[in-house]
Amino acid sequence: MTAIPYDLLMKIQQGTMANEYRGVPMLKNPFDMALYSLLLDRVKPRTLIEIGSHRGGSAMWFADQQPAMQVLSIDLQPPDLVHRNVRFIKGDARRLALETESIARPLLVVEDSDHQAATTAAVLDFFDPCLRPGEYIVIEDGILTAMRVADSYGGGPLRAIHEFLERSGGRYEIDRSLCDYFGPNVTWNVDGYLRRTA
Ligand SMILES: C[S@@+](CC[C@H](N)C(=O)[O-])C[C@H]1O[C@@H](n2cnc3c(N)ncnc32)[C@H](O)[C@@H]1O
Repeated sequence: MTAIPYDLLMKIQQGTMANEYRGVPMLKNPFDMALYSLLLDRVKPRTLIEIGSHRGGSAMWFADQQPAMQVLSIDLQPPDLVHRNVRFIKGDARRLALETESIARPLLVVEDSDHQAATTAAVLDFFDPCLRPGEYIVIEDGILTAMRVADSYGGGPLRAIHEFLERSGGRYEIDRSLCDYFGPNVTWNVDGYLRRTA
């Protein structure tokens, strides 16, 4: 699990829920903002697909980190926000219908929608055939288990990650250099930085 003690975790969560970027809510904590920066520098994606836009702050923040990257941000209710490198699209994480053949690579996928295990599993299964070795899919908020609320999410993202790793036959690995960068799973994306290996 995470090395962050429960009380501190819940305090950081309060700040995370109040976080903003350029005046727009962005539900990211300082650990993962740093880890994403490292990941973006390492992979230099040309396309980032985010599932779960909320108000659009995270999509704008991602786009501003890598000016050469296009961000596609999908939500049941996309925000009414304009950024030259972001497209907000209406879509359902459980029924994704994206054409991924012609997108610029490398691709980085960030799943941050409703955190139900079944939704996370649907996103993992949708992108599995399309991800290439060296590319990443980040599954956010496995921390819900440490927050003791994963039961309300059908086991939450962490359950979906571990079940997916079992059925995907070694094609992915958890990038421990990111998950454990600040201490064991000192990230909201517990075991969630997944790298395609084969
Ligand atoms: C945790 S918020 C996203 C936070 C955002 N990525 C950020 O860091 O600021 C979750 C978002 O997922 C959206 N959502 C929930 N269920 C979804 C689904 N089935 N498909 C697509 N989006 C969904 C919600 O509308 C909400 O905006």
